[in-house]
Amino acid sequence: QHLYHYPQVESTQDIVHQLAKEGKPHGTVVIADEQVKGKGRMAREWHSPEGKGVWMSILLRPDLPPVQAPQLTLLTATVLANVMDKRSALVPSIKWPNDILVHHKKVAGILTEMQAEQDRIQYVVLGIGINVNQEDGEIPSMIAHKASSLKMESGEKWDIQEFVQSILSTFEKTYDSFIEEGFQEIKQEWERYGYKIGEKVTISTMRRDFKATLLGIEADGALLAKDEQGEMEKLYSAEIHW
Ligand code: BTN
Repeated sequence: QHLYHYPQVESTQDIVHQLAKEGKPHGTVVIADEQVKGKGRMAREWHSPEGKGVWMSILLRPDLPPVQAPQLTLLTATVLANVMDKRSALVPSIKWPNDILVHHKKVAGILTEMQAEQDRIQYVVLGIGINVNQEDGEIPSMIAHKASSLKMESGEKWDIQEFVQSILSTFEKTYDSFIEEGFQEIKQEWERYGYKIGEKVTISTMRRDFKATLLGIEADGALLAKDEQGEMEKLYSAEIHW
């Protein structure tokens, strides 16, 4: 298996980009005990203290057009929700596009970075960050009102290595069935875990803030919502509040 494990790195994302450029194969995985420059989406930082979570990046070389890249993120979110669901009494949900929440707090995030040429994906670096064993007070105070860890929510300490193994094996199965059978089943699974699906929320886009009922996702990864005038909205970039 192409699995690299480091005690400390700046960011597993950067290492996998490097390995991709060296020609390493599909399925290469980099895991770190600690990241000192962990990256989140929108150029945010991702706090990755030693031994407290899953900090890993996966190299994918799918033979797909770039428009399908968002499906890989949604697929990964369903894998994380599934594994957490199976291994604990916690009820995870997926907040569009890709945050995993437990008890309304974020415990995991996904960062998908893609290299594409013309209309083919060259490679994708899929970053997975899961807050696992942080205790009260170990989540940065700026985000403590909206972020948590699996231990804080379940009261139990998790075996990180075992957890990583089941994520990787579930990921492999789900990825293979996605390549063979397409996105439909993943879409259903995503909607099963989807946060506030069928409920009314406030959505902020670059253009406006409005109230709408979340309906589900589209095959291209867009969020589908119906506003108070009954108009359907397909959203590719938005924030959801509740
Ligand atoms: C988010 O903003 O929700 C995405 C967070 C992704 C964090 C993971 S941890 C492993 C990988 N390496 C990074 O620097 N970031 C991702």
